[in-house]
Amino acid sequence: MRILSGIQPSGILHIGNYFGMMKPAIALQNEGETFYFVANYHALTSLKDPKAVRENSRRVVVDFLACGLDPDRGAVFMQTDVPQVTELAWILSTVAPMGLLERAHSYKDKIARGMSPVVGLFSYPILMAADILIYDSDVVPVGKDQKQHIEITRDLAGKINETYGDVFKLPEPRINPATEVVPGIDGQKMSKSYHNTIDIFGDEKEVRKRVMSIVTDSTPVEAPKDPARSTITQLYSLFASKEELAEMHERFKKGGTGYGDFKKQLFEKLWEYFAPMRKRREEILGDKLYIDNVLARGAERANAIADDVMTRVRGAVGLR
Ligand code: ADP
Ligand code: TRP
Repeated sequence: MRILSGIQPSGILHIGNYFGMMKPAIALQNEGETFYFVANYHALTSLKDPKAVRENSRRVVVDFLACGLDPDRGAVFMQTDVPQVTELAWILSTVAPMGLLERAHSYKDKIARGMSPVVGLFSYPILMAADILIYDSDVVPVGKDQKQHIEITRDLAGKINETYGDVFKLPEPRINPATEVVPGIDGQKMSKSYHNTIDIFGDEKEVRKRVMSIVTDSTPVEAPKDPARSTITQLYSLFASKEELAEMHERFKKGGTGYGDFKKQLFEKLWEYFAPMRKRREEILGDKLYIDNVLARGAERANAIADDVMTRVRGAVGLR
């Protein structure tokens, strides 16, 4: 089974990225051959600062490896090290119905948030489909917000297969129901664009401050509180054992404890959870050549497959 996913270097990785995509992707390393890449071509749709594109791209690799990605078990690489994906994106665009892309939620959301309606933003799902199809991927672990992009990928693969015979495998999304949507500190979906994130590798003071500013209602300390609707318990459930979570729920219902104390408890748990990863991150940062080596090996493995698939695609459509 071939497993593939990508993450945009459009900002600093947060715990929504971790539980929604990175943790399941890391776990899947035990189930098949993995290909994980930094989607730096995609990031150009939102990030226009070259220094930030370069720095974030590298930082995503460091952070993902620190969280447990094993570069000996699967390929870790930069999207731009396999430039054939842009060629495949062009070929896919020749069968992509306008209507299919016009229905894409992520495009509509981005426009609604004030981004310019440029062609790259519109055709973003075509490049993503190329990323997936160029490795004959079977499974794509992503957060729920990417599900439609995988459906578009399947549609485009289907269009090519209808037109040119059996060229592509149809990939399946893999979405972890337990962490479909991790809430941010304001209770909405955690996202860089909503400025409501808690970073995985933020410094202690900053992370504490973010946790302490989780939005709550104004129930007084002594009154019972509803654990089911609280962002604090939702986030705590990601880090705590079943028993620890049940205990927090009880204390919510009993009253007598203020939200501030629950937030402190959440912070301690979260900080402890990422401690081994912070340590690993320091080791990685101490080895200057490590990242370059990982990316070079990853690019080699990715290119070997992409070259084969592109030979097949060019043959099928008549470019060879
Ligand atoms: P952001 O919304 O912060 O820009 P991205 O769109 O770059 O995050 O998401 C990268 C990956 O992390 C995707 O697979 C996405 O589904 C997942 N992800 C992002 N935010 C969340 C969240 N709040 N809950 C679950 N998964 C998430
Ligand atoms: N669009 C994805 C996101 O924002 C990133 C991405 C690009 C991706 N290409 C991909 C994810 C291929 C999975 C497979 O999170």
